[in-house]
Amino acid sequence: MVKTSVTLSGLTLENPVIPASGTFGYGYEFAELYDINILGSFSFKGTTKEPRFGNPTPRIAECPAGMINSVGLQNPGVEKVILEELPKLAKCFHKPVIANVSGFSVDEYAYTCEKLDKQEQVGLLEVNVSCPNVHHGGMSFGTSPEAVAEVTRAVKAVTNKPVYMKLSPNVTDIVSIAKACEEAGADGISLINTLMGMRIDLKIKRPVIANKMGGFSGSAIFPVALRMVYQVAETVKIPVMGIGGVSSAENVIEMMLAGATAVQVGAANLVDPFICKTIIEDLPRVMEKYHISDLNDIIGGAHK
Ligand code: SIN
Repeated sequence: MVKTSVTLSGLTLENPVIPASGTFGYGYEFAELYDINILGSFSFKGTTKEPRFGNPTPRIAECPAGMINSVGLQNPGVEKVILEELPKLAKCFHKPVIANVSGFSVDEYAYTCEKLDKQEQVGLLEVNVSCPNVHHGGMSFGTSPEAVAEVTRAVKAVTNKPVYMKLSPNVTDIVSIAKACEEAGADGISLINTLMGMRIDLKIKRPVIANKMGGFSGSAIFPVALRMVYQVAETVKIPVMGIGGVSSAENVIEMMLAGATAVQVGAANLVDPFICKTIIEDLPRVMEKYHISDLNDIIGGAHK
């Protein structure tokens, strides 16, 4: 019997597999396909203070080994999430959930986090300072150590729940951004969000995506994500959730060796809605293959 459970800031997860925000709705949509209680946890759709329609269409461009999205944080707003989405989720998911929060000002991040802090099922807040698809918000907070620290401090002031800052790879020095979060009191780091990318439609000779550019995700970005998880885990003492191009149990183990305590699966859910179930089922067999009896023993193992 292998041991797959891990602990993130006091929260014990049965396994480290977590669907990433924006690829798993508010959970109940996937509960129609399988019992989502097998998941370690999941990060729900990015939520803002006000409802958002999102960006103009087309918002998606396909790429080899990945995709580009420019959704623009479409969501019903925090009030409706609390009144309508979370009660539906509570009926089918009986574990603590990760609330993913976006904002357009420091006050807005704090407002939304304070509201979600009062929700019993929310076990952890994941603060998205890395959305590349909106102006004057999202990634603009996550590309400066000062701005990311200000958001971290504002959120920490309104909650006792663990706060994980979700970072952008579109920076020259990811380590200084992660360190700024840690020094400002963050309990953990989630990384990476998507890489900026674009496609051009040869027939019309114009960008495929209405917003021209978007966030590139999928298995093509796995090596970049792994590298950044390794760099951040080497520097900070707080836990790291590894995200980016993960689509197999082998990828989960690689991320953990780089220093991740838990691992999120993103774009792969959009290709195969059963991928997290498959990864969880495969994990014990792959652990045995590589002589791993307890996942906790391999966290950061590649640094030794
Ligand atoms: C989006 O809604 O545009 C994607 C969210 C993100 O990349 O943070």
